[in-house]
Amino acid sequence: MITSSNKQDAPLQAEPEDQEEIIIEQTLRPQSLLEYVGQTGVKNNLNIIIQAAKQRGDVLEHLLFYGPPGLGKTTLAFIVAREMGGNIKVTSGPAIERAGDLASLLTNLSEGDVLFIDEIHRLNKAVEEVLYPAMEDHVLDIVLGKGPGARSIRMDLPRFTLIGATTRIGLISSPLRDRFGATYRLEYYPEKDLQTIINRNSKILQANIIDEASAELSKRSRFTPRIANRLLKRVRDFAQVHGHDTINLQTAKQALELLEIDGLGLDKNDRRVLETLIHKFSGKPVGLNTLAAATGEEEDTITDVHEPFLIRLGLLSKTPKGRQATEAAYKHLGLTPPIDPQQKPLL
Ligand SMILES: Nc1ncnc2c1ncn2[C@@H]1O[C@H](COP(=O)(O)OP(=O)(O)OP(=O)(O)O)[C@@H](O)[C@H]1O
Ligand SMILES: [Mg+2]
Repeated sequence: MITSSNKQDAPLQAEPEDQEEIIIEQTLRPQSLLEYVGQTGVKNNLNIIIQAAKQRGDVLEHLLFYGPPGLGKTTLAFIVAREMGGNIKVTSGPAIERAGDLASLLTNLSEGDVLFIDEIHRLNKAVEEVLYPAMEDHVLDIVLGKGPGARSIRMDLPRFTLIGATTRIGLISSPLRDRFGATYRLEYYPEKDLQTIINRNSKILQANIIDEASAELSKRSRFTPRIANRLLKRVRDFAQVHGHDTINLQTAKQALELLEIDGLGLDKNDRRVLETLIHKFSGKPVGLNTLAAATGEEEDTITDVHEPFLIRLGLLSKTPKGRQATEAAYKHLGLTPPIDPQQKPLL
């Protein structure tokens, strides 16, 4: 189980590729709502409920954040804890194996603390049931003994705020979902927000980058701050090794080419998904498990990482029969789209 104080020292659960990247993420992580770029709707709403709770001297309601990886759910949880002046304890759904694990986490909280559960959709049923009364009435029901002699005692818990994060809102049971006071969906970031993030972080990383180059990076960042930061770091390394003290458009493009990231921000794996749909299945709709087996990717990676991005770009469509590459996907890969037999010729 992972716990931490309200510092930038919590390990991240998903996606960062290596230890160095985790450290970079933590250095670049915004510390306040003011520094948190974009997501204006979510920020405005959060600001109101934070201010209101503070004015009442109350603890904050339980919050649920959802959206694709790398959009800033963990970051927001840290910011909320900081703004409320409490500590944050970080854990994740799969890390809480037994009801007793959760009980010990809960009893170690102090009034006003945030308990952050990442990947909350992966909590098991027995653990979830302990969570319900804890969230609703701030109590813990402990069963002592087994069989007919078993009895249950109720323990008061400090009033705390649970923040859950998930990439898969559909997998959260409705009793759990109903116990959150507010649920926020994080959206993909527009290029201008990503450029703001890149420009700001280039200062922290002491990389000199010109606007044309940061615009190019933001265009190829999969609408995702984590990727923007990753690209910035890789491009900075490339510039440094080539002895360029400024990252200009040409340097950025050369570095991206080396990383095999194309003009729309697709990486090798995105292209492999599309190419598999096109070549192995002749452009016909394909089910998720078949696609996963054919590409060698995990099903979750396809649904969480590739699919939302490719759909957003209009390169993939999801039909009741399965996933299919769109005409735009063929064009993007330099291929000729098949003639749709359903389409009647124009007379
Ligand atoms: N709104 C933002 N403004 C500036 N930087 C951001 C923002 N959102 C995210 N980032 C950057 O992106 C990195 C990844 O964000 P974070 O770890 O919060 O994503 P996540 O949604 O929790 O992802 P996952 O689902 O993989 O856990 C952060 O370290 C931070 O540097
Ligand atoms: Mg996270």
